[in-house]
Amino acid sequence: MAARITYATLTADNEELHTAYEDGVRRARARLGEEVAVAEDPEPGEPVEVRSPADPAVVVCTVRPASPRAVQAAVAAAKQAYPGWAATPWQERIALLRRCADVISDRADELAALMTIEVGKNRLEALGDVEEAAVFFRYYSDLMEAADGYSRPMDSLSDTERTRSVLRPHGVWGVISPFNFPMALAAGPTAAALVAGNTVVVKPSLQGTATAWRLFEVLRDELPAGVVRLVPGGDEQGRALVGSPDVAGLTFTGSYEVGMQVLGAASTPWPRPVIAEMGGKNPAVVTASADLDAAAQGVARSAFGFGGQKCSACSRVYVDRAVHDDFVARLVARAGDVVVGDPLERDTFLGPVVDAAAVDRFREAVAAARERGRVVAGGDVLTGERLPGHYVAPTVVTDLDPSDPLLSTELFLPFVAAVPVDGLEQAVAHANDTVFGLTAGLFSGEGEEIQRFLDTIEAGVVYVNRPAGATTGAWPGIQPFGGWKGSGSSGKAGGGVYYLLQFMREQSQTVVQ
Ligand code: ALA
Repeated sequence: MAARITYATLTADNEELHTAYEDGVRRARARLGEEVAVAEDPEPGEPVEVRSPADPAVVVCTVRPASPRAVQAAVAAAKQAYPGWAATPWQERIALLRRCADVISDRADELAALMTIEVGKNRLEALGDVEEAAVFFRYYSDLMEAADGYSRPMDSLSDTERTRSVLRPHGVWGVISPFNFPMALAAGPTAAALVAGNTVVVKPSLQGTATAWRLFEVLRDELPAGVVRLVPGGDEQGRALVGSPDVAGLTFTGSYEVGMQVLGAASTPWPRPVIAEMGGKNPAVVTASADLDAAAQGVARSAFGFGGQKCSACSRVYVDRAVHDDFVARLVARAGDVVVGDPLERDTFLGPVVDAAAVDRFREAVAAARERGRVVAGGDVLTGERLPGHYVAPTVVTDLDPSDPLLSTELFLPFVAAVPVDGLEQAVAHANDTVFGLTAGLFSGEGEEIQRFLDTIEAGVVYVNRPAGATTGAWPGIQPFGGWKGSGSSGKAGGGVYYLLQFMREQSQTVVQ
């Protein structure tokens, strides 16, 4: 077995990592085509093949979508398991969950390889996604431990009365997770819910089912029966989970439109917590004092990494007019250097986009950009004999009007637009002028500008002068990750110190002795 991955060892020149991943590819291939279904489902939906976006001839798995009865049965099983799990001392719960983290880390090579095949994420990013999943289990367990189980004595007004504030779980927690981080964003909310003492039903994105299923296998094997259930399927299964009156809390990660519906759904007899992590249209700002090379590198990594399909991806750059053309030339050069190819290959930076619909969206966006602005890099669909999947070129656009819909609509594509501005104030005004507020980046050489940006930008995750990724790459325990405005409902970020609290409710316990 290879040495454990950490954030620090996830580097392109780590030979051990490459060898282990390639071995993982062989193991992942051996299980391709398996059926994913709820075991006891009497009437599953028609089989749906999940195909690799890198090569649609490859069937990753065949999903039998859970029937409405199977979704309710999963919720019922989790409800039955809840009292036992909630009553398990938190020290025992986190011991089991830390064990889950270790098993995930031990299987990282195969899990990452499967993820590459299933959603097209390149090897380093896929390995990072798996390790992030494991770190979520460790991080929330550490928080529980540091808070001594969130049971605190309060002040007392008399000698005979003692009061404690105790945080307790809610019940069955529903987790609806996206394709773009098929491990980490299924694992993060699941881990927090479990650490807190809830039981969980997960409905993963259809394109990501095989990867999420492997996570589920770990949890199923390591935790008491019923504590975690997975219901495969699509929108219908998601709606059934949201609609269940026995789901006491929900975490949804996905689009703004669906997130707003989930937030509005009133299926329970009393209000329940809903944590919705929705989209982004993430800006970077480049001022006249910026290091333009660092800015071009950061924007390129952030706009083209995983094909712009991260909710954190940078998709618009507001650049001081004095340096706009220079910056764009450097960004275009970076776009030209991006290695596009089979994501299983060692040197590939950009694999395919997730499906044919994303390619159609790309064509439409490029056509609109040609009509209303200028495409200065990319713009082509690259699917062909060498690349049989859903491949598009990293694309840079200029000359759009600041009010253009391409600058406010989330595209989820490797597509970034640069807009000239007159100073930081105008840049921030444009940056804030969308429904979203997830991530934002600044490149500036002046301390006063940096502070002004930090004080006025409307975003939950902000990065300054970060060539490794202008707006992407948050890691649990390092950068709490969550959106403001239409990007997130709760304002408490995953992988941060306040996230876990949302999965518990406070009980004030006064006892007279
Ligand atoms: N952690 C992921 C990122 O920041 C979501 O890109």
